[in-house]
Amino acid sequence: MTPEVKFTPDMEQTVDHEEDLTREILATMAASQQEAAGKHRHAHRDAHAKSHAILKATLIVHDGLAPELAQGIFAEPRSYDAVVRLSSAPGDIHTDRTPAPRGYAIKVIGVEGERLLPHLGGHNQDFLMVNFPTLAFGTIAKYKELLGLLEKNSHSPEVLQRLTTGAMRVVRGAVEATGRTPSAIVEGLGRDSNHVLGETYFTQGALRYGEYVAKLSVAPKSANVRALTGSTMKVDDFSAIRDLLGGFFGTEGAEYEMRAQLCTDAEAMPVEDAAVLWKEDASPHRPVATLRIEAQDAYSPARRTYGDDVLTFNPWNGVEAHQPLGSIMRIRKRAYERSTAYRHDYNAREQAEPDSLDDIPN
Ligand code: HEM
Repeated sequence: MTPEVKFTPDMEQTVDHEEDLTREILATMAASQQEAAGKHRHAHRDAHAKSHAILKATLIVHDGLAPELAQGIFAEPRSYDAVVRLSSAPGDIHTDRTPAPRGYAIKVIGVEGERLLPHLGGHNQDFLMVNFPTLAFGTIAKYKELLGLLEKNSHSPEVLQRLTTGAMRVVRGAVEATGRTPSAIVEGLGRDSNHVLGETYFTQGALRYGEYVAKLSVAPKSANVRALTGSTMKVDDFSAIRDLLGGFFGTEGAEYEMRAQLCTDAEAMPVEDAAVLWKEDASPHRPVATLRIEAQDAYSPARRTYGDDVLTFNPWNGVEAHQPLGSIMRIRKRAYERSTAYRHDYNAREQAEPDSLDDIPN
């Protein structure tokens, strides 16, 4: 078996003009967030603005993990309270009729270890995932290019909604090859509205996994959500996904498997470019924990306003043992704090980290 690559701080490399690119990207994103807030008279997240469900959950770390998997918050078999927010990727509230990348943000409550950013407060570990294994624009420089494309096509929510999918790479290639506008090409691309509960979600970027380096994912585990994999949602209404998930969790629960894909080859599985797929035949996604979600009211008014306006998820809200790695992860350190600060200020709402599931309203 290939030995796992050990984490060392020098495996990250600053890219040319990183500080300038970071500032330019943050300024562009801030402008679009302010514009959306002015329109709604309410500030939303700068990405993944539209939530579909906010769920209480339990994360159960598996017993008997191999030593290379029993790392960081997964070091001991134990269970943690957790909160999950399901979302769509755009930074504004669009109709569910248009397909979009979906988000699965997990907050694991009450973890132990040195904090990455102690000023954020709390004792929680956030993992943010999207239903595609790679980020098409996987470095800061490529991300800047993407924002340029989006600005030129700002009338097209379809393009925006492809932001984090591999389809975006196809879009860019097609634009370059044919000179047609991305929106025209995207219409023909048609990635289906797969049922969000049947999808597998990925961190896309790498993170430190204790002594090692990994990408994480969550995949359907219980039979009811496995049966939804590949099925298409009926999205004939503006907020059809919220209604679909409300109906589902109103009567049944679900289980997901959290998995770690360890880096076994620093060249073929780089941390600096999140567009490079780490191949499963080189290193499989190995189960480390079960995320259990009981039946509940997934979107009561109190739950929605808490999940959307009080809570914040940030890949840097966590422990040093799970430090995000690579240029796209470094820019997220400032992007999430800025977006969160702006919306909490604008909405005059205090941000709060939950200490237990009792803090999550029903
Ligand atoms: C590496 C791949 C990425 C993944 C998997 C990812 C995933 C997510 C998810 C799931 C959310 C919603 C969190 C929630 O429910 O509160 C989110 C929010 C957000 N993302 Fe990302 N994202 C990625 C890259 C980026 C990049 C490169 C940027 C900016 C440069 C960015 C900026 C943001 C911002 C500003 C928010 C909203 C923060 C807030 O106001 O709370 N993301 N992301």
